Amino acid sequence: MNLILLGPPGAGKGTQAVLLQKKYGLCHLSTGEMLRETVAAGGEIGKELQSIISAGKLVPDEIIVKMLQERVRQADCAAGFILDGFPRNESQAHALDEMLAREEKSLDYVIEFRVSDEEMIERISGRYACAQCKEGYHDIYKKPKIEGVCDVCGGAEFVRRADDRPETVRKRLESYHEQTAPLLPYYKERGVLRSVDGMADIDTVTGQINAIFGA
Ligand code: AP5
Repeated sequence: MNLILLGPPGAGKGTQAVLLQKKYGLCHLSTGEMLRETVAAGGEIGKELQSIISAGKLVPDEIIVKMLQERVRQADCAAGFILDGFPRNESQAHALDEMLAREEKSLDYVIEFRVSDEEMIERISGRYACAQCKEGYHDIYKKPKIEGVCDVCGGAEFVRRADDRPETVRKRLESYHEQTAPLLPYYKERGVLRSVDGMADIDTVTGQINAIFGA
């Protein structure tokens, strides 16, 4: 099964992708995460990417498409993939179509997360992750069971994303509405678009997605 999770920053794409990856054995391809790994590795490219991401702008399509093309061929994607953060504009959607045709794969579902922008600013400013295993948490909605200790790996150090400041989030939301939301009719016409209420709690959203798959 091959999926796209489509929604604005903070809609819960990453949260649900991790759960779907575990349940269905799919690979989770987050272009944002791949870019952050490149930034963390340093070098000139890392610095350039960091300045684009911190400004809330989109990274050039050719970098993203090349990165994804290499990843989709790896063995852990054999049972299917979850695209989280890609495609983000019309040109990336066409590049994906070409990639799927070349790899003889098809797209099963595009899941749209419907949310309110103002709530997303609050959600993102409360988000943090374990520095060691990257498990995601939230100041209000998803706290570790023991305060200050990661549920998954026991780590005690946590990090917040550099692009999660409210003014950058506003730019990312603008970019979503201008460039990414116009893809919704494109996938609707192809009969693969489904929607979930991203304002519901995490378990309810998971239930809505499972219902789409008939699970
Ligand atoms: P990326 O990393 O893709 O960020 P994003 O799309 O803006 O999405 P987020 O990761 O911020 O949100 P999410 O929907 O995954 O929410 P999450 O599950 O964490 O991209 C970052 C940057 O990289 C871009 O701005 C761009 O510069 C660049 N980039 C990436 N891809 C690119 C591309 N294809 N082309 C060009 N540039 C690209 O949830 C948020 C918080 O809310 C969490 O704390 C979570 O615990 C909580 N939460 C989740 N669901 C719920 C719920 N239902 N109820 C309550 N709380 C919830």
